[in-house]
Amino acid sequence: MGIQEAEVTSIREVQPRAFLLSLKAKGISEEARPGQFYMIRVQGGEDPFLPRPFSWLRRYAEGQDPQRDRGDGLQILFQVVGKGTSRLSELTPGRRLLVQGPLGMGWRWEGAKRPVLIGGGIGGASLLPLLEEFPSELKEKAIVLLGARSPMGLWLSTQMRETPARVMVAVEEGEADFKGTVVDLLLAEEREITSLPGVQLFACGPRAMLGKIAKAAGERKIPCQVSLEVSMACGRGVCLGCAVKVRDTERYLMACKDGPVFDAQALDWSGEDG
Ligand SMILES: Cc1cc2nc3c(=O)[nH]c(=O)nc-3n(C[C@H](O)[C@H](O)[C@H](O)COP(=O)(O)OP(=O)(O)OC[C@H]3O[C@@H](n4cnc5c(N)ncnc54)[C@H](O)[C@@H]3O)c2cc1C
Ligand code: FES
Repeated sequence: MGIQEAEVTSIREVQPRAFLLSLKAKGISEEARPGQFYMIRVQGGEDPFLPRPFSWLRRYAEGQDPQRDRGDGLQILFQVVGKGTSRLSELTPGRRLLVQGPLGMGWRWEGAKRPVLIGGGIGGASLLPLLEEFPSELKEKAIVLLGARSPMGLWLSTQMRETPARVMVAVEEGEADFKGTVVDLLLAEEREITSLPGVQLFACGPRAMLGKIAKAAGERKIPCQVSLEVSMACGRGVCLGCAVKVRDTERYLMACKDGPVFDAQALDWSGEDG
């Protein structure tokens, strides 16, 4: 995928320090598959020099027609954590960005019967397109578990609730039906969720959370895919900066090219809480 220039059509803060960014460029998301990502860099200025990876959220810009303009727009949801995301948050409509993608290997859901989507924080962003692209009967059977630090961090849950999926949320601080992490919620709902016939887990979030989910899935022999949020520099398998270790071997895979979505049991989780 070549590098393309895209125009910012809108940007707004949808929850504290998290922004919904809409971009427009011909065919930019025509071939995007759920779980793939884009490398994005603000033009002008050298700091930060490298582009940053972001999952795509929707294949049309806010305000575009979701059917007619599908493929010519791109939405991403990003959390401000450092220099690159801080610069992105200062963008205004009309500014232009360099965008490369879609990149990587996304979610695989062919044959899924009972999908359970688990998102920690902004990690839920790569799960929305997965849910939205499920065929309608699979959407109805899907269960979504989302975790956030506070109820203010649950914008994604309002989007997911527009589908027929059952959506449950966990927050660590403040008022909520479930207080704790999304992993606590998964384990609390174990009887209702992990024992369902045909259940399959799709998880994205911080590495420690993914390690715990991988461990729980492995012990229960439940198929589980995880999307890794590792630091990336080139996004194309060249710099070797995103290497992840394969379980029980000395082999490494590149998160940008072989992932970011992996079979959880293929990876080495040692060193994680899991
Ligand atoms: C495939 C993929 C998809 C992603 N999708 C999204 C998304 O949809 N929305 C979103 O907000 N973010 C997403 N991320 C994470 C995003 O790329 C980082 O938050 C971003 O690169 C940070 O850039 P920065 O310049 O603001 O921060 P930096 O200045 O580079 O770093 C600030 C702090 O954040 C830490 N950090 C940076 N990148 C990561 C990372 N990838 N994982 C864990 N810690 C990190 C650094 O160690 C440092 O402590 C994704 C990452 C990957 C690999
Ligand atoms: S980011 Fe360069 S090899 Fe993956």
